[in-house]
This record gives sequence, structure tokens and C-alpha cells, in this order.
Amino acid sequence: MNYIQLEKLGEGTYATVYKGRSRTTNEIVALKEIHLDAEEGTPSTAIREISLMKELKHVNIVRLYDVIHTETKLVLIFEYCERDLKKYMDAHGDRGALDPNTVRSFMYQLLMGTAFCHENRVLHRDLKPQNLLINRKGELKLGDFGLARAFGVPVNTFSNEVVTLWYRAPDVLLGSRTYSTSIDVWSCGCIFAEMISGVPLFRGRDNADQLLHIMRIIGTPDERTLRKMVAESPEIQIKQWPRYPKIAFQQVLPKASPQAIDLLERLLQFDPAKRITAAEALQHPYFTSAGLGSNSGGVPAPYPSTQQAALIPQPAPPGQYNYAQPSQPVVVYNVQVAPIAQPQQPQPQQQQQNGFGQYPVVYAHPSR
Ligand SMILES: Nc1ncnc2c1ncn2[C@@H]1O[C@H](COP(=O)(O)OP(=O)(O)O)[C@@H](O)[C@H]1O
Ligand SMILES: [Mg+2]
Repeated sequence: MNYIQLEKLGEGTYATVYKGRSRTTNEIVALKEIHLDAEEGTPSTAIREISLMKELKHVNIVRLYDVIHTETKLVLIFEYCERDLKKYMDAHGDRGALDPNTVRSFMYQLLMGTAFCHENRVLHRDLKPQNLLINRKGELKLGDFGLARAFGVPVNTFSNEVVTLWYRAPDVLLGSRTYSTSIDVWSCGCIFAEMISGVPLFRGRDNADQLLHIMRIIGTPDERTLRKMVAESPEIQIKQWPRYPKIAFQQVLPKASPQAIDLLERLLQFDPAKRITAAEALQHPYFTSAGLGSNSGGVPAPYPSTQQAALIPQPAPPGQYNYAQPSQPVVVYNVQVAPIAQPQQPQPQQQQQNGFGQYPVVYAHPSR
């Protein structure tokens, strides 16, 4: 391999991530190693999903430079980032809480990356601080477009990173299988609250407990909302819950500005149909109006629109690699397909094109 493996950066559920240096260009990269089950060989679905990710080029999405594929392992070569958001909050935050300008900048970038994924019919499905990376320039990037769906079960069974429920949308907790972009929007809301306060907003132990944590803050949804959700996703399982009243977010997050509270409110709607979209959230007065401290006249200057950001020149992939060619040809799909507006409509053309049928492309995570 044309990389020198340096220190370990992190260990997730599916892989081990090392810092690496290109032997040809000296560029620092992140090497994500996934050990393959010798018997199963390389899942072609994994290769296909990874290839899709190579096409997802945006300043707020961790750039995948290349994939090295050998008999025993897959190594993904990523753009290097200094640390993930969790570690950033631990290191820079005031007991985890970030200052209002940093929160706003990170939140804007998180929504930009998310909106770009959604425009390209890609769901992330596991947005959480550990999967968001921050580089030296203060750029936030969505990472870990999971390999989980491709691989099914965790590779590192000894990994101490527990697959967390804390960022999971209530409709998913209720059993909804009609995944939509709104599940990522919920996670963005949870991350927003966590950056403001320094602690995760809803910390459940299991599915049922997670739902109760959510309801204790945003209130138990009324009959009408639940009936509507069931009508829209019949697989949803409704139970009898205590009728918790809604607690004002201002009470939960006393430090947050009224505009931050208003945005949070729109991101954390129990009913997925009522949740704001990532693109709409970017237009919220929290980002567009002044009034958040002295140097904040609206959107922080360096942030372009999603489309513009996609065009920002990305760092060139480091050097050329000598790597074993996958036994199956890597198909690079064009992810710039139809908008996500009617995910229920069968789209035969697309089915052929990306094999994911009528649903948006999902770089998935386990358990669903
Ligand atoms: N590009 C990168 N640059 C720096 N650190 C990274 C990078 N990618 C991942 N990491 C670190 O490794 C950890 C695990 O990586 P991740 O891609 O989330 O794997 P997993 O699928 O196993 O959760 C991350 O939480 C982060 O701390
Ligand atoms: Mg991860």
C-alpha cells in the first residue's frame, strides 16, 4: 500500500481508523480499515455504496479519495480531519457547551452537508457528534456514511462504541420504515441542542426509554398526530404512554437565543411531516438575521449556498495508488438523480441506475 500507517485515530463500530501519510505526496490522510470476513469475501453492495460516496463532493462532506481493496480488508482513504465533534466539544467547550458563534457556524455547516446529501437522494441515518469531523480550519464535515448496511453486522465486536439511539427520530423508534430525509433533520436538532448545552438532549437506554425521554421534553403527541402518523406509516406501533406536557425548550436550554429555540423547535417535531427540511432550516432567521453577539451580521461570511459549496475546489486526491483491483468492477453511479420529493413513486429508470428502487439512496446503519 502506498501509505504509511500512523497512529490510531478512532475505533468505531465497523472499522478502525488510522492517520496515514502518502508515500508519494506526504499528504496526511485518514485510513479507515474494514476487515473482511474471509468466507464471505467482499460484498459487492459495499463496493457499490462506497463508489457512490466518492461522487458526493461537498465542502461539508468528508471527501473519500479512494478505496483499496485486498483479499482481507478494505481500506478507505479519506480526507484527514483533526477531530470529531464529540472530541471537539470535550476539548474546546465549557463543560462540552460551545460558544454561540461556534454553535451557529457548525450548525450551518451541518445543515449544508445534510441538505446536499438530501438533494442527491442520500440519507445519512447516523448523524451524531462522533460522525461529524472538524478540521483545522473549523470546517465541519459529515463523515461515516456507514458501511453498516453493506456489512450487516459490526466488524469490531470488541469495539466499545455503542450504537447510540440518542439521535434517532421518534418515528423510527416507533417502527416506521418509510425512511425519509426528516430522520436526519431530527438528528441535526439533537446535535444542535447538545452543542448549546454540552450534554446530549435525549439519553435513553433502549428504544422504549428513548421515546419516553423525548416525550418528557417535547410532550406526548396528541391522538390526532399519532393517528396521522399511523395513517402515513401503517407499520408504526402505538402504545399507551403517560401524557407528558411539553416543556419549553427555553427552560431546557436557558442559554439559547430565542431564534435558536425557534429553529430547534422546527427541527424537533415529533411528526416527521412537520419537521423543517435542511434546506429550509438554512433560511431560518437564526442564520440570516443579525443579533447574536457583536460580530454576527447574519450568516458567517465564508458560507456559500449548497450548490456553490459543491463547486468549491476540493483538495486533490493524494498521488496515485497501487492497489489491488476489486474482483468485481467498481460501478460509479451518478448520484445526481431526481429530487427526493416523491419517494413513494416507483422510478424504474432509477431502479436500473442505482439499484435502490424507489427509496433514496441510503448509506445505512445497522439495526434497521
Ligand atoms: N477522516 C477522518 N479524520 C480524522 N479522524 C477520523 C476520520 N474519520 C474517522 N475518524 C475518527 O475515527 C472514528 C471512527 O470513524 P467512523 O468513520 O465513524 O467509523 P465507524 O463506522 O466505525 O463508526 C470517528 O469517530 C473519528 O473520531
Ligand atoms: Mg462512526
